[in-house]
Amino acid sequence: MFDFSPGADAPKSEIHRDLREAALAITAGESDAVANMANVAALIWQFLPDLNWAGFYRAIGDELVLGPFVGKPACIRIPFGRGVCGTAAATGQTQLVPDVHAFPGHIACDGASASELVVPVVADARVVAVIDLDSPTPARFDEEDAAGIEALAAAIAAAIAG
Ligand code: SME
Repeated sequence: MFDFSPGADAPKSEIHRDLREAALAITAGESDAVANMANVAALIWQFLPDLNWAGFYRAIGDELVLGPFVGKPACIRIPFGRGVCGTAAATGQTQLVPDVHAFPGHIACDGASASELVVPVVADARVVAVIDLDSPTPARFDEEDAAGIEALAAAIAAAIAG
């Protein structure tokens, strides 16, 4: 059993640091990418409040394919360049979206989603996956969350590259 205890009242920077350290600890010495993505998705869900979806899409060929996640069942395949996730994968740039309804081509997997943060995971100079976080609260994510998830993505890239 793993027992990581996020501090509910901790400053956001501390929560992201603790999340990253927990993710490094839980993936250490494990080479199975799916197992590592599953545990990291669970940790994100445990550490970050106010989410309705948290997980991975894997870059396979020229599309994203659903990976381990916590939340409602989601769309399975997203072509590069489509929606928030496909844009992150195609550009290699973090997508911080305060209002998903204002994002051209946003793909609504869960009607409850109001804001979204998608961060590419890069290994060997290639986008291998994206981390996708959805919230029912508009503008739930800020630059600090983006920086925190970018640091998480860098820390676990090798462990999920498969
Ligand atoms: N909203 C995403 C699709 C994935 S779901 O949010 C889980 C998008 O526009 O790419």
